[in-house]
Amino acid sequence: MIVGKPLFTTRQIQIRVKELADMISRDYSGKDLLVIGILKGAFMFFSDIVRFIKVPLTLDFIIASSYIKTRSAGEVKIYYDVRENISERDVILIDDIVDTGVTLNEIRERILIRHPDSLKICVFLNKKEKRIIDIPLDYVGFDIPNEFVVGYGLDYENQFRNLPYISVFKKKT
Ligand code: IMP
Ligand code: MG
Repeated sequence: MIVGKPLFTTRQIQIRVKELADMISRDYSGKDLLVIGILKGAFMFFSDIVRFIKVPLTLDFIIASSYIKTRSAGEVKIYYDVRENISERDVILIDDIVDTGVTLNEIRERILIRHPDSLKICVFLNKKEKRIIDIPLDYVGFDIPNEFVVGYGLDYENQFRNLPYISVFKKKT
């Protein structure tokens, strides 16, 4: 297994995360903001971005899984669901990466049926090439090519999540 050079360094990540947080702080002043992190992948991005958001907020999580090794598996399983009241709240879903869009779309629909006042989506990485469902993204950290990446919360078989940067991952052949 090979983890290559950083695609985004800790410093680049920090700068971009702060920019996203500033946009959110501007857009949500005076609103009833509920940010929902999608675990496990978003744990690092989530904990970084909420520290920089300057408006009051409530937070909660969803634990979901849809991925088998390096391939998307069409089915989304929810292990923990949001306990905060969603109706009439201004909700932002926070995820690590969107690839086919299947996972986020499923979660988005589960939130929408609980009638939030508004729902926006914030993802750290956007892999556009394999998109199957055209899901609206409101805040995007970086667009990336169709390569498998690890670090900064993202895993390969649950490893590498702790790397403080994003790196392309290649299996040794
Ligand atoms: P989607 O349903 O195909 O959009 O897949 C989204 C989920 O797959 C993400 O939340 C990640 O957990 C995982 N995923 C997609 N691409 C990568 C990657 O390059 N590295 C690690 N996980 C990934
Ligand atoms: Mg994920």
